[in-house]
Amino acid sequence: METLEYPAKPLKIETSRELTVAVMGAGSRGREYSAYGKIFPGTMKVVAVADINKSRADAMGEEWNIPPDKRFGDFREMLAAGKLADIMIIALPDDLHYEPAMEAMRQGYHLLLEKPMARTAEECIGLRERQHETGVMVAVGHVLRYAPYFIALKRAIDDGLVGELVNIQHMEPVMYAHMAHSFVRGNWHDSKATTPMILAKTCHDLDILKWLVGRRCERISTSGGLYLFRKDKMPAGAAARCTDGCPHEATCPYSAIDIYERKRWFLYVFDLKRDCPKEKILEKLEATDYGRCVYQMDNDQPDHLVHTLEFEGGVTASFTMDAFTPWGGRKTRVMGTLGYIEGDGKTFTVHQFRTGRELKWDFKVGELANYHDSGHAGGDLALIRDLLLAVDRNDESYLTSSIDESVESHLMGFAGEKSRLNHTKEEVR
Ligand SMILES: NC(=O)c1ccc[n+]([C@@H]2O[C@H](COP(=O)([O-])OP(=O)(O)OC[C@H]3O[C@@H](n4cnc5c(N)ncnc54)[C@H](O)[C@@H]3O)[C@@H](O)[C@H]2O)c1
Repeated sequence: METLEYPAKPLKIETSRELTVAVMGAGSRGREYSAYGKIFPGTMKVVAVADINKSRADAMGEEWNIPPDKRFGDFREMLAAGKLADIMIIALPDDLHYEPAMEAMRQGYHLLLEKPMARTAEECIGLRERQHETGVMVAVGHVLRYAPYFIALKRAIDDGLVGELVNIQHMEPVMYAHMAHSFVRGNWHDSKATTPMILAKTCHDLDILKWLVGRRCERISTSGGLYLFRKDKMPAGAAARCTDGCPHEATCPYSAIDIYERKRWFLYVFDLKRDCPKEKILEKLEATDYGRCVYQMDNDQPDHLVHTLEFEGGVTASFTMDAFTPWGGRKTRVMGTLGYIEGDGKTFTVHQFRTGRELKWDFKVGELANYHDSGHAGGDLALIRDLLLAVDRNDESYLTSSIDESVESHLMGFAGEKSRLNHTKEEVR
């Protein structure tokens, strides 16, 4: 098998000066993006932070030596202080993106705006208009576009290695424990308070499919719903909390004790480290939704979704989101007129029909270690790198997840949710 030589762009960059950053939301995403400035000092510096969780604001404040008057609680306090930095990272919960993004652009901030950009099509379009008026750089958090794997996959398609693209089959495995953690017990369990699953999770995949195909999505049809995590599926006699001596605790794959205490997954949500004492974790499970029975939550997010996408020119894609898998990541098959690609999120192989030639792309990059440390197959740190480059060089072309691109993929999501609820096929507009 031959090697496909599409090297990844280095994560390390030089900027003409140290760019300053204000972080709204010092949670998981805010910390992930800020880490770039610690790994590559001199490129960016966090100079202000807002978080209603004071210990998180203070932790980031200490890490970056931020003076007390630049550590804020509610994000509105930070906005009231005027422009404090070159760039604002908006990593607040889903329902708090539109308001600060509109105001921050008005104040002249460049933005890293987490997805979903907003919760309605009208708000997304309003954000696009504000960006056009102000001309600031906006990178929406569609991090997969910056991951070396997806960049290489797109390049293989664009280079014509499989002829003309006809169809894509794509799978987003959510992973059983991640489903329970985020979408049954956690922050995104209630679609009305946050955003529907199609925006909260699968919007990455709708976006990446549109990007790989390189054409406008004209129609979408979505099916699926909540199959398992409901009261009528509860095993008989289950306790309200896994820590209440539930008779199913020893066998239930969704046991909070198993996920958080034995396996020590997702502990960042409690600001705990993996080596913390067992009692600290059990305390959190007894006091928060993370210890509740997955069959007795007030959740409504689907655990399986099936989408059919129709693009301009007759190109199609089918895409499933599945909670019930042992791993996360993505799996993709690309069907072209002259060949086929199969990928698993880390490597992919191109097969060419006539010659039988096979080419394999692997995760071989100069800065392997740094890319592996970064979430979303390297996409998280690569996104902030490209935003810094865009701002430093005043060149929007560094940003593949521009606001224009991202509005379109959000519109696909809104149309998909409408299709699912009404059992229809929807035009994307
Ligand atoms: N791009 C991606 O791949 C990706 C992945 C995960 C999450 N996200 C999105 O990123 C956003 C943040 O997610 P997260 O996982 O970091 O969540 P998080 O809960 O870890 O962090 C959000 C932070 O915002 C703070 N906050 C809430 N209300 C506030 C207010 N009024 N003012 C100031 N601070 C406030 C919270 O205290 C919390 O620390 C969400 O919109 C989420 O959907 C994107």
